[in-house]
Amino acid sequence: MNDLTGKVALVTGASKGIGAAIARALAAAGATVGINYVADAAAANANVGAIVSAGGRATAIQGDVSKSADVKRIFASLYESFDRLDIVVNNAGVYTFEPIERVTEAEFHREFDTNVLAAMLTTQEALHYFSSAGGSIINVSSIVSKNPAPASAIYASTKGAVDTLTGVLAKELGDRKIRVNAIAPGVTMTEGLQESGVPGSPLEAQMVGMTPLGRIGTPTDIAPLVVFLASDAAAWITGERITISGGLR
Ligand SMILES: NC(=O)c1ccc[n+]([C@@H]2O[C@H](COP(=O)([O-])OP(=O)(O)OC[C@H]3O[C@@H](n4cnc5c(N)ncnc54)[C@H](OP(=O)(O)O)[C@@H]3O)[C@@H](O)[C@H]2O)c1
Repeated sequence: MNDLTGKVALVTGASKGIGAAIARALAAAGATVGINYVADAAAANANVGAIVSAGGRATAIQGDVSKSADVKRIFASLYESFDRLDIVVNNAGVYTFEPIERVTEAEFHREFDTNVLAAMLTTQEALHYFSSAGGSIINVSSIVSKNPAPASAIYASTKGAVDTLTGVLAKELGDRKIRVNAIAPGVTMTEGLQESGVPGSPLEAQMVGMTPLGRIGTPTDIAPLVVFLASDAAAWITGERITISGGLR
């Protein structure tokens, strides 16, 4: 039902964390996957290696998705290699948790450029490559867009924008058979989360306590939802934001 054989997907920020698991799951379902990364070539190549070892097809593509020239190059490279595009997962994202007093213009622009502008740039570019059969765009939001936490002024606002963008584009692109959905993960154990200082902190214990299923999520908890949304089984689903958080609100 979730078979993606013959389809080609781009996953942004797929060298590690949630994006890496999404790329592996799409490949396991039969898709050929472009693994975008910005800096960590070794991690991206390791993920390509894992997919190829499991019998799948993937390639690593460097590029900063907040820069339009890089986005154009990423899509051109993927299309040159595989000659089609069906699925775009806007997963690349950055986050920090700071009180409002410590918000800076530089951090505002870094997070909005990577988390919001990039999804607009990739969508613009995907329109050149999706066939007349349409496509599926999946934006990675977060539970913080609707259940904001203290000290997340910039990050939660970027994800609110991602939710709104998802709704706008679903309406704007539906007549081209392009579906646009968002997933909203809860706290998920990734390299990025490790760097944020949440693991081992009182905040982690608080989050686990508020999660009905009683633990932090893993990237492999998240990935199957993306496979479903990318597949024809979700052909009648667009403009949705689906929470995937073990019940954490
Ligand atoms: N972890 C959570 O608890 C959680 C919860 C809800 C939502 N999310 C969302 O899930 C997504 C992934 O989060 P994560 O925790 O898995 O992150 P992560 O472990 O920090 O990984 C981030 C990925 O994004 C890539 N990246 C960062 N900036 C980029 C740019 N400008 N251009 C291209 N790639 C870029 C990184 O590439 P390099 O390796 O090359 O640096 C890496 O592959 C984000 O959108 C995040 O907001 C995370």
